[in-house]
Amino acid sequence: MDRVEIVEVGPRDGLQNLPDVIPVAERIAFVDRLIAAGLKRIEIGSFVSPKAVPQMADTAAVVAGIKRVPGLRLMALVPNARGASDAMAAGLDELEFVLSVSDDHNLANVRRTTDQSIAELEEVCTAIDPDKKLTLRFGLATSFHCPFAGYTEEARTLSVIERVLKIREGVEIALADTTGKAHPVNVRYLVEKALKTFGQSARFAFHGHDTSGFGIANVMAAYAAGIRIFDGAAAGLGGCPFAPGASGNIATEDIVNLFERMGVATGVDMPRLLEAADMAAEFPGAIPGSHSRLLPRQAA
Ligand code: COA
Ligand code: ZN
Repeated sequence: MDRVEIVEVGPRDGLQNLPDVIPVAERIAFVDRLIAAGLKRIEIGSFVSPKAVPQMADTAAVVAGIKRVPGLRLMALVPNARGASDAMAAGLDELEFVLSVSDDHNLANVRRTTDQSIAELEEVCTAIDPDKKLTLRFGLATSFHCPFAGYTEEARTLSVIERVLKIREGVEIALADTTGKAHPVNVRYLVEKALKTFGQSARFAFHGHDTSGFGIANVMAAYAAGIRIFDGAAAGLGGCPFAPGASGNIATEDIVNLFERMGVATGVDMPRLLEAADMAAEFPGAIPGSHSRLLPRQAA
């Protein structure tokens, strides 16, 4: 039986865009429900400036409050060397270094050009203690489309992949459709080229937003092109505060529903995932975007 790996990004991508800061205890309760659903890789927050994203303050306290279970890997997003060092001190298992393929979004998001972020990545990789057994992931925002510069040239995304892999081979690279403007043909072409050219030196993941309603079709296109790692956010919350016009992530429950119905194992318990998604949908100001959550529960 084929299987896919689901990376739940709701506690980070989902909560970073809510109007209010969700208290640490509720964030922990949300992560606990995701763990109870069998999710093994969870991005539980980010180590960024609280002035830039107040919703992500106190991620270290969230990490400290999680009851670990065997096989669980907690990930956090970091934009710079300071974030990486704070995340390491907090005991994360995985770091996602975020950089955008387009300069315009990278400047809006982390106040650096793409070149400057690549230079910072070099610093982060040098600083990582090999004994920590930390897994590195590079999150390539605007791999397909930028809210300011429009569609990203495929050649530019491939060249950024090449440059970051020169710094550290063997990592996971998340190709992110930050704005939800990619369509399945964009996804298929880029994934096919990325896997053909760099498939020996990196693992690829697909991180999509459902702004245009193409989310699950894009997941299918990425799967057909060879990707087996998918990001989702419970209840389809999400969005980058620095990507105007983008709406929520593809709902984790929609991704799980798709694969399980196709006979592809996800390792996720759907009824329990729906309980976590219900909780996410109730956060103040949340704009849920899922289909599976609205189906009669026995049919979901
Ligand atoms: N964690 C917490 N605080 C941080 C930090 C981090 N990783 N990196 C910088 N800071 C603080 C500095 O201490 C400084 O604080 P002060 O104003 O109180 O002195 C302030 O942020 C600015 O520091 P500086 O080094 O000048 O950073 P910058 O201006 O280059 O800011 C980022 C860049 C990356 C820190 C900021 O833009 C950011 O946090 N962006 C996050 C974007 C994000 O999370 N987007 C959503 C996910 S895609
Ligand atoms: Zn995202």
